[in-house]
Amino acid sequence: MTLPSKHILLAVTGSIACYKAIDLASKLTQAGAKVDVILTTAAQKFVSPLAFQAVTGGAVYTDLWGNDAHILHVQLGEQADLLLVAPCTAETLAKLAHGHADNLLTVTALAARCPIAIAPAMDGGMWQNPAVQANVASLQARGVLFWGPAQGRMASGLVGVGRMLEPAELLERVRLFGARNGQWAGKKVVVTAGGTQEAIDPVRYIGNHSSGKQGFAVAQAALELGAQVTLISAPNSLPTPFGATRVDVRSAEQMLAAVLAHTAQADVLVMAAAVADYRPQHTLTQKVKREKQESLQLNLVRNADILLAVAEQKERTGYPGVTVGFAAESQDLLAHAQSKLERKKLDLMVANDITASDAGFFVETNRVILLGKDGSREELPLQSKLDVARALCQRILQLLSEA
Ligand code: CTP
Repeated sequence: MTLPSKHILLAVTGSIACYKAIDLASKLTQAGAKVDVILTTAAQKFVSPLAFQAVTGGAVYTDLWGNDAHILHVQLGEQADLLLVAPCTAETLAKLAHGHADNLLTVTALAARCPIAIAPAMDGGMWQNPAVQANVASLQARGVLFWGPAQGRMASGLVGVGRMLEPAELLERVRLFGARNGQWAGKKVVVTAGGTQEAIDPVRYIGNHSSGKQGFAVAQAALELGAQVTLISAPNSLPTPFGATRVDVRSAEQMLAAVLAHTAQADVLVMAAAVADYRPQHTLTQKVKREKQESLQLNLVRNADILLAVAEQKERTGYPGVTVGFAAESQDLLAHAQSKLERKKLDLMVANDITASDAGFFVETNRVILLGKDGSREELPLQSKLDVARALCQRILQLLSEA
């Protein structure tokens, strides 16, 4: 996921967390943002301007009194999409709260038209001090965002609230914030992912090979467009895309209940999960013992078709607005996908040939064909699952605009 065309003004103040700000500047740059840096005098005691210049390839500003200073602070604040103060000390926080204008950072913050986010870093219980909290409240009341601080071990060895959020989390917050006015802003998108597990006994289950990666990528792509994303996930160890609300389920029955509840007012449902078609008729309460049984017969009963239940709900309520299914097939891909598109009353079907070695369950790439209910057919090239997800979201956007 990238931050192309975003201009971030990173202001770094004098905390030991400064060393992490170099990593943050690097991560923002690698994500595609243009990063300008302001270092306060105190910050320069910890880190050098050169380090930031080296990782961003951009300008590093330290001086309020340079040749172009009379316009610099105005320019910096005007060009930026976001002024991120990270780390922000208690001292700078106080100055910002009270409108001081005694260094390049504070002058720029006063002149800035862009949103301001603060990632505080302070030690020894300073964060809880009523003076600091009053400054925080005053800035929040003016719309300044606070990202962190986190709880944990601080430089003094004390444990408490005051650590700057890790650069990786700050990067995710910048991304999410950057997407807030995206094409899907205000839209509710529900995505299912992974393979359901149908319990045999407390230890064993019937499952499938779905990794969940394609569904998680769809959630990520929808977040990039500014959607409000609910990710209903069967068990897996993938990290939740930052900003998504994750609902963990295990069985097809649990997924059915979660999908109906969360799509009751959703704009889009993308059903990427591999739902077990059958479950054991009875789940044994005790573990089956090998010694006692030479063979074992499982009686399986058919699970409800979640998409059919969603189609019924849609007929009654109009929600979800757009329904997308996946068809992972090992033969007659298009015929099966087309028949499921019609049977499950979908707007769009993503057809996926799982016999290809570079697509489907076990790999990072995918090659899919999008079948529309209007008879349209779009073959997407082999690409990463995230790029497949992005292309899919663009197609869904088109459907939403036509609806
Ligand atoms: N699906 C569903 N409920 C089920 C089974 C599948 O909603 N009980 C959804 C899947 O999430 C997917 C689409 O239906 O989006 C197609 O899934 P697939 O397993 O290919 O279809 P089935 O209807 O189960 O058909 P079959 O397994 O016989 O191919």
